[in-house]
Amino acid sequence: MKKIAIICSFNTIKSKRIAQIIADTLGSEKAELVNAEDITTEKFMSYEKYILSIPTWFYGELPNYWDEFVPALEDQNLSGKTFAIYGLGDHKKYPYNFVDAIGIMAQFIEEHGGKTNGHTPNQGYTFIESKALRADGHFWGLPLDDDNEAEKTEERLMGWLKSMKLL
Ligand SMILES: Cc1cc2nc3c(=O)[nH]c(=O)nc-3n(C[C@H](O)[C@H](O)[C@H](O)COP(=O)(O)O)c2cc1C
Repeated sequence: MKKIAIICSFNTIKSKRIAQIIADTLGSEKAELVNAEDITTEKFMSYEKYILSIPTWFYGELPNYWDEFVPALEDQNLSGKTFAIYGLGDHKKYPYNFVDAIGIMAQFIEEHGGKTNGHTPNQGYTFIESKALRADGHFWGLPLDDDNEAEKTEERLMGWLKSMKLL
């Protein structure tokens, strides 16, 4: 069985901490941590199941390392691949762009034939607008707000992994 790629920038502190918890929880037989800062198209395309770490930066944008890499996937066919996305954000400072990057990435993936899972109900989250919110009231992935609600992170994360039957 191919491993799940947990792709995260190793230069982050908060996002990397989450990636490490996921990696430790799933174990090295099931999952592999991959650095988003130096990933190649070939390496990215070699997996079938992914957990992507997509924090939101710059008022509703992808962080630089994803923004620079995503164009390399423009010509790729992501069909047959499944992506779960978690994203750090700050609902107090950015209530109109809360975790937007999750939605930007999820839509890119689906437009290129990939499937997203781990859609999360919006209950318990406070925000005004978010590109990560689907028409069905679920987020495209798992929002985490370690800046304001760090005490909720572990429970949200474990609930998310359980919802995808990874626990
Ligand atoms: C310059 C800047 C812009 C940000 N823009 C947003 C935003 O538009 N939406 C949001 O939800 N969070 C935003 N944030 C909050 C970050 O996503 C949050 O602090 C997160 O924990 C960063 O995770 P990282 O350090 O692992 O990348 C922003 C933070 C900074 C410093």
